[in-house]
Amino acid sequence: MSLLAGDQKPVIAVLTVDDEWTQFRGNRANFRDIVRTGRELNYPVYIVTTKDLKLSANKIQGYGYSPEDKQWKKQWFPLPQVIYNRIPLREDEQRPSVRRKIDECIRHGSVQLFNPYFFNKWTLFDWLKQNRTTKALVPATKRMRSFKSLLPMLEQYGSLYLKPESGKAGKGIMLLQFDEAEKRPYRLTIQGLRQKNVVYKTGKPLLLWKRIKAETGRVPYIMQEGIELASYKGRHFDIRMLVQKTERGIWTVTGVGARLAGHRRITTHVPQGGSVEEPEKLLIPAFGKEMTASLLNRLKSSGLLIAKQIEKGSGHTLGEMSMDLGIDLDGKIWFFEANAKPMKFDEPHIRKKSLERIFQFSHYLYQQGKV
Ligand SMILES: Nc1ncnc2c1ncn2[C@@H]1O[C@H](COP(=O)(O)OP(=O)(O)O)[C@@H](O)[C@H]1O
Ligand SMILES: [Mg+2]
Repeated sequence: MSLLAGDQKPVIAVLTVDDEWTQFRGNRANFRDIVRTGRELNYPVYIVTTKDLKLSANKIQGYGYSPEDKQWKKQWFPLPQVIYNRIPLREDEQRPSVRRKIDECIRHGSVQLFNPYFFNKWTLFDWLKQNRTTKALVPATKRMRSFKSLLPMLEQYGSLYLKPESGKAGKGIMLLQFDEAEKRPYRLTIQGLRQKNVVYKTGKPLLLWKRIKAETGRVPYIMQEGIELASYKGRHFDIRMLVQKTERGIWTVTGVGARLAGHRRITTHVPQGGSVEEPEKLLIPAFGKEMTASLLNRLKSSGLLIAKQIEKGSGHTLGEMSMDLGIDLDGKIWFFEANAKPMKFDEPHIRKKSLERIFQFSHYLYQQGKV
């Protein structure tokens, strides 16, 4: 047995919610990869639901993965020292019983929880505006409350992205453009499911607002300056970055990927016809070799600044986030959103590193928590 305290590994629980039909919610393949990585690195790790997580007990019912019979099995586990929140849906995380459990973890003396909550699009912009450097990276953004505030903003920027505050995967996103040369100058592009866009044109502001309201209903939206993104073969692209903390608790960039929009699509999401690409493949034709190298460096340093500012704004311990960054025609970097529950990166080298970092950072947290 080693006498070095640093050798002792924390017990890690991946937090989710229970499900009537499938035992627990969340991406199984992701959970399997996490458990497998934990095993490889010698960390005890299991999946736990908010319902089963009883912090006053000395053992807990969780799910372990048995690779032999390819099944999740409910078993008893020791109380975790570190909890990694992977509750997959905002609606679940917002349920009072779930919130209470998360709050209990945050307040608990000997349990460390990281990434306690989803981010909201609006609050992210609010946090980033509070720092001079990150403020320069965010497009002008306002809450879309009334028709009165929409038109002056459209006039100022020429095009606006309208996005749900709690959206994901491009759902509900619209692009509003004004072209005075047109007979019907207001043009609203509504991203439909799969390959279909719906375009609505009108010359009457009130009809425009009526159409927008018909799409948004009661869902809160933000309106945002439209950025003219750099493109590759006539298709726009943007950058996905995974930022995580290391074994020393320092923010670092785990991976950078690019997403190329589908033909005539207003977002770059893969389910919307977008594709995953190597950043250099898209950046070099647009900006040249030399500028691409410096752009990639600027992207990374911007990503780190953004992560730090978001963590500060949130007031909670964060261990990772993914972000969407755009690059305009002049090579200026723009922040679009950050996600506290990053999706899997398909690029294999990024994927492996990202799984390992979850454990390395958990170890760091555990050591910080021990007094
Ligand atoms: N202000 C904007 N200007 C230009 N393109 C944008 C803007 N906002 C979003 N987009 C495009 O739409 C995509 C999705 O926007 P995002 O805010 O990430 O929404 P979601 O939560 O649905 O992923 C971005 O990755 C980008 O390609
Ligand atoms: Mg996004």
